[in-house]
This record gives sequence, structure tokens and C-alpha cells, in this order.
Amino acid sequence: PKITYVSVDGNERTVDVSVGTSVMRAAVVNDVEGIVAQCGGNAQCATCHVYVDETTVDKLTDRLPVEDELLDFTTCARRPTSRLSCQLEVTEAMDGLIVHTPERQS
Ligand code: FES
Repeated sequence: PKITYVSVDGNERTVDVSVGTSVMRAAVVNDVEGIVAQCGGNAQCATCHVYVDETTVDKLTDRLPVEDELLDFTTCARRPTSRLSCQLEVTEAMDGLIVHTPERQS
């Protein structure tokens, strides 16, 4: 599946991601800017915050409580489209997903 990351200044990167990896991990291994992921994907740091593009939100399943709670601790304001990218495990259904990285992660 292909995932597109858009930075605040409009830089777009589309990467081909393996099923089963996370949207966070795919960003880190491809040197996509804007995702810090301090805790390494353990749902503890909230520095993998992304805003899912409105046009692609229906590609995702609902948040689990652990993600929902941690989203209250992001540096940039939480929005209805906010997700923690480490909690987004990539599936075929997520092909074409677009996420926007926030201005800051900490
Ligand atoms: Fe730390 Fe996602 S990488 S919460």
C-alpha cells in the first residue's frame, strides 16, 4: 500500500509500505520528516502525531482507548482527524492514505 506524508510546508512524500508495519515505522525508515516517535511505537510519547487527510479518514479503523487517551498529550492541538501513527498498522485497505505531519512533535 502507498502512504503519502505531507509536511506543514507542503512537502509530499509517497512511500510504498509493507502490510503489517506501522505508519510511524514506514516514515522513520524512509526518513520522512515530521515524525519523532521517541518511545519507538509503544504508545507512550505522542511524538508520532499525524492529522489524517479528511479525504482518506474512512480508510482507518477506530482508535483504541490507549491511543485516544494519549492524543490528549500531543504538542500540536488535537483535531478530530488526529491519530498516533505508531498505532496505525498498515493494511491493504489503507492504500492511498494521506497523513499530514504537525508543525512540532515536542
Ligand atoms: Fe510513541 Fe507513537 S511512537 S506514541
